[in-house]
Amino acid sequence: MPLYVRSAVENDLAALKRLDVEAFPTEPYPYFVLRQYFDLCRDHLLVLDDGHALYGYLIATPPEAGLSWILSLGVTLDLRGHGLGRRLMVESLRQLHSEHAREVRLSVAHDNDRAVSLYQHLGFTQTGDVRNDYFGPGEDRILMTLDLADSAAPAHETPPSAPGARLNAGRTAGPRWSW
Ligand SMILES: CC(C)(COP(=O)(O)OP(=O)(O)OC[C@H]1O[C@@H](n2cnc3c(N)ncnc32)[C@H](O)[C@@H]1OP(=O)(O)O)[C@@H](O)C(=O)NCCC(=O)NCCS
Repeated sequence: MPLYVRSAVENDLAALKRLDVEAFPTEPYPYFVLRQYFDLCRDHLLVLDDGHALYGYLIATPPEAGLSWILSLGVTLDLRGHGLGRRLMVESLRQLHSEHAREVRLSVAHDNDRAVSLYQHLGFTQTGDVRNDYFGPGEDRILMTLDLADSAAPAHETPPSAPGARLNAGRTAGPRWSW
C-alpha cells in the first residue's frame, strides 16, 4: 500500500504511543505528553499512514515569531533507511515554510548517525558545541538549525510508488529540503 503523510487525529494517539516506544524504547514519551503535543501542535503532528497502520511520525511546533522546533521524529524499525524519515521532514519543512517560519531548530544525540546525516543533508547545521546534560544528566545533545528565510517555495510531495520513494525525485535545483 502507498504511504501518505497527513496530520494526526485524536484516534491516532494509541498508535502514536506504540510508534514512539518503538522509536525511543529507553525513554518514550508518556501518553499524556503525546496528548499534550497533539493538543498544542495539531496540524504540525504528522503521521505516515497506509490506510491501515502508522509507520512514522514527526512533531513540530507551530511557528512563533518565525521560529519552529522539530520535537520528535520516528520511523518503524522495519522501514528505516527507505527515505521515510526524510519524507516526514520535507513535508514538515514545506508546511513550516508556507507558514512563514524563518528558522527551524532541533536537538539530536551526536552519535545518532542516521538522524544527524538526515538533518545535514536537509541543510541543517550544528550551532555551537555539544550541550552537556541538555536533557538531564548524561543526556548530551547537539543543536542544529535550518535557515528557511531565504529558501524558495518548496514543491509539494509527489505521491510515492513505493514506501521509500523520494520526494520530487529528479529535481536538480532548489533548497535541499525540497528535493
Ligand atoms: C532517524 C530516523 C527517523 C530516520 O528515518 P529513516 O526513514 O530511517 O531515514 P531515511 O531513510 O529517510 O534516511 C535519512 C538519512 O539517513 C542516512 N542513512 C540511511 N541509512 C543510514 C545508516 N545505516 N547509517 C547512517 N546514515 C544512514 C542517509 O544519508 C539519509 O539521508 P539522505 O536521504 O539525505 O541520503 C529513523 O532512523 C528512526 O526512527 N530512528 C530512531 C528514532 C530517532 O533516532 N529519531 C531521531 C531523533 S533526533
